[in-house]
Amino acid sequence: MCGIVGITSNNDVTARILGSLKKLEYRGYDSAGIATLSDGNINEVKCEGRVESLEKNISRTNLQGTIGIGHVRWATHGKPSTLNAHPHSSEVVSVVHNGIIENSTILKKLLEKKGYRFKSQTDTEVIAHLVTDYLKKDNLKNTIVKVLKKLHGSFALGIIFKDQPDLIVGARRGSPLAVGYGPDENYLGSDSYALKAMTNKISYLNDGEFCIIKKDLVEFFDSNAKKINKKILNLSKNDQSIDKGDYKYFMSKEVDEQPITIKNCVNEYIDKFNKQINIYNFPWKIRDISSVVLIGCGTAYHACLIAKYWFEEHTSLDVTVDVASEFRYRKIKFKKDSLYIFVSQSGETADTYAALDICKKNKMKTCSIVNVVESSIARDSQLVLPIHCGPEIGVASTKAFLGQMLVLYLLCLKISFDKKIISKKKYSEKIKYLLSLSNLTKKTLKVDSKIQKLCKVFANAKGCMFLGRGYSFPIALEGALKLKELAYIHAEGYPAGEMKHGPLALIEEGMPVVVLAPRDDHYKKIVSNMQEVISRGAKVLLITNKSKNEIQSENIWETIEVENISEDLLPFLITIPLQKLAYYSALEKGYDIDKPRNLAKSVTVE
Ligand code: G6P
Repeated sequence: MCGIVGITSNNDVTARILGSLKKLEYRGYDSAGIATLSDGNINEVKCEGRVESLEKNISRTNLQGTIGIGHVRWATHGKPSTLNAHPHSSEVVSVVHNGIIENSTILKKLLEKKGYRFKSQTDTEVIAHLVTDYLKKDNLKNTIVKVLKKLHGSFALGIIFKDQPDLIVGARRGSPLAVGYGPDENYLGSDSYALKAMTNKISYLNDGEFCIIKKDLVEFFDSNAKKINKKILNLSKNDQSIDKGDYKYFMSKEVDEQPITIKNCVNEYIDKFNKQINIYNFPWKIRDISSVVLIGCGTAYHACLIAKYWFEEHTSLDVTVDVASEFRYRKIKFKKDSLYIFVSQSGETADTYAALDICKKNKMKTCSIVNVVESSIARDSQLVLPIHCGPEIGVASTKAFLGQMLVLYLLCLKISFDKKIISKKKYSEKIKYLLSLSNLTKKTLKVDSKIQKLCKVFANAKGCMFLGRGYSFPIALEGALKLKELAYIHAEGYPAGEMKHGPLALIEEGMPVVVLAPRDDHYKKIVSNMQEVISRGAKVLLITNKSKNEIQSENIWETIEVENISEDLLPFLITIPLQKLAYYSALEKGYDIDKPRNLAKSVTVE
């Protein structure tokens, strides 16, 4: 989704803004642009499409300047085009913006009446004209305060001014924004990742705050322009696995990294010597928790759905799972003995953050499971449980999904043990299984060659279905989501027992149906459901685990067998062939796997 970079320096900033925009590409975007100040002029270069095209355009225009702002845009108001790309400039200011200005139509009408002319269809352009208008009557700081009060919605802003050759304004409401500190230069970024190549010294703005950045000074203010102090954080310089290595796409690298992800996470949370799960700084008494509410979006939501099965099986807690965009607007009856768990790879998803904020305002117990530990969701939660995956760049989440499931599973077992529900014997057994999970994931990755052969059928299908029961049902949803995201194929995940209540009507001759049927408690039932789709012409790809027992079914098109582990951990292994299936189907269709159309990695608008 949209990304912001700003630099004020003694040296030319163009190349470094471009470099940072490249770092932000992983978020998903459709156009890009840069504005710099030089010789008292605002110079803009923008284009539809990739930062690569922007770079070519810039090399033709010879854009220069020691101060500048850059942006990658994911269209909300107005289609993706050069005209709608940011920055948006008036005669005197240039603005980059993440988020949505909800009252932009009214503001635009007022500004048009005053004679301001709009070039784009965006909500952002109103900010440029509004700032220009207030600057006619007021100083810079008062202007910013007044403009921010006029704007409704959520946003992060970066603004440069024609007559201020060394000053960037940053402002945050709802969308994240970071300030970076360098030697004789300072930076603005929508996340620390954008600034990592230049600095590891970062401060974050909170909602309602703004900042003034000069090359030798950074000042922060609250919404009434009262000066505030900020902590400078030293982030880890560890930028591991940010290049693709020998892989064609980040996604395939990230899928293959999953054994390492699991190993790192297990090492962080499991004390191998004492055979126990450690969750340090757990801020509550375990007896004060009698229910959990799991909240996330997209793939993170699917991880929450699986966790519901785990919590129900291994603990006595009531479990509710909610999509963040629904949770935030429902009339929730908050309970003091509930633990609210927010699952988010980026830690910046707008809906998940808003759901957390509501819980915080209601003084609930909040825990976040994130990959980015410096993120807004992590910073605002009482307990943060990192998934230790390293950066995930592919828009479609893969290794983070396994990491999220793993941390949820560990938390569930830990609560079960502390509440004395799981026996010591069973707890030790589970830990033993967890210690073998990385290795089994590695072995399961070998399904690769078989899947490659099958993907032609999926790539040419009009649509397909993913069926599961129990633990495998949320995995069916995730398998369908991956195929939609990457290969743009209409795919539905369904609880196999529901097929008769409607979706069976969709089955026609040759339709690929993926049946997730590990040998668990649901096995016999799902084999019957599988028969029902086979007899209606479906081409069934069965995904199960290795077993001595033959599969009691005929006319299965193909079977893939994953390794064996305890039933409750099989979701980790059966996910892998589904990730590969989506990957190879998208590859077959020639799509941009790391940046699927219309999608974004970090969804910072609602
Ligand atoms: C976007 C991504 C998904 C991700 C979802 C939630 O839609 O494309 O892959 O699952 O956001 O993201 P989060 O960072 O909160 O896990």
